[in-house]
Amino acid sequence: MSVSTTASNSINFPGSITERLQVQHLLEPTQKVSTIAGSDVIRGLTQTPKTLPFKYLYDDRGSELFEQICELPEYYPTRTETKILQKSSHEIAEITGTGELVELGSGSSTKTRILLDAYQDLGYTLHYLPIDVSAGILEISAKQLLLDYPSLEVRALVGTYERALSHLQPTKLPTRTIAFIGSSLGNMNPQECDRFFAKITDALQPGEYFLLGIDLQKPKDILEAAYDDSQGVTAAFNLNMLEHLNRRFEGNFDTNQFSHWAFYNEVEQRIEMHLKSAIAQTVELKSLNLQVDFTAQETIRTEISRKFDLDTIQQNLKAYGLIPQQVWTDENQWFGLILSRLF
Ligand SMILES: C[S@@+](CC[C@H](N)C(=O)[O-])C[C@H]1O[C@@H](n2cnc3c(N)ncnc32)[C@H](O)[C@@H]1O
Repeated sequence: MSVSTTASNSINFPGSITERLQVQHLLEPTQKVSTIAGSDVIRGLTQTPKTLPFKYLYDDRGSELFEQICELPEYYPTRTETKILQKSSHEIAEITGTGELVELGSGSSTKTRILLDAYQDLGYTLHYLPIDVSAGILEISAKQLLLDYPSLEVRALVGTYERALSHLQPTKLPTRTIAFIGSSLGNMNPQECDRFFAKITDALQPGEYFLLGIDLQKPKDILEAAYDDSQGVTAAFNLNMLEHLNRRFEGNFDTNQFSHWAFYNEVEQRIEMHLKSAIAQTVELKSLNLQVDFTAQETIRTEISRKFDLDTIQQNLKAYGLIPQQVWTDENQWFGLILSRLF
């Protein structure tokens, strides 16, 4: 693990930004990672059906493509959650008050700005801890936030949710709020969700807060269009995972021989994104010492995006002592935002 303060190079604010920014890498800092780091890839590609962890969708290019997805007319989640945050942010800031805001999977932190504005309007001091596996977008957005919010302090953690949560020490500020917005919870299966909620409670003291944004159930045609847009941006985002694996693990995936496939699985109540092999082929990931055979039309499941029901998810939170204090939604009930407090 290495700690580096990286804000001094490009921005002309002597001292102040360097003092207010810390970037800590919880991942291997080098591009090439060890075979142990790729054991999840080996496991996923050697089982039937084949799967890959969704975190590999996010390298610098993946993060850029995700930002484009957020702007697509079919992709309702970002627009809808933004509207909900606009109407709820002052209430959230009032309830939680001065303290530390930890954000898991912060990406560009665009929606988080709505919250930061509310804390600033109310005169609350805030330390912001964005956490993301994608180092590039994390560092760029942290620097931009420091320019735009002169009293904000940022400690960015590059790493997975799990690693970062285990790494957090109790805050010295009056309270901690952990935010997990963008419905990234939907990328976890129910068992992973349970483990994740247990980690959240470990990272909070009684009386502290968890802010969760979740995508809700809705008609299938709306869901499927959101994950298979007419401009092909989601397809490029999904296929980019193979380029990412090629680079990290010396692979030879040919993206022309795979295609994007997304559908709503009504039994599991989740969108599934897959990459489908056009032909029978063998792919090698040299640094993992792995050869993978595909039959024609065989798929790798690259992401699930579960669609929730507000009552059930509140029951799940309560089972972990996370007691919902306020719930906000939009006029169509397409998306939900829940502020819970650990008791
Ligand atoms: C769907 S985007 C959401 C971004 C932002 N929170 C939003 O609501 O628009 C998911 C973000 O989580 C990050 N991410 C994905 N898997 C992760 C993991 N296991 N640990 C940490 N960050 C992760 C990605 O790099 C990406 O920035």
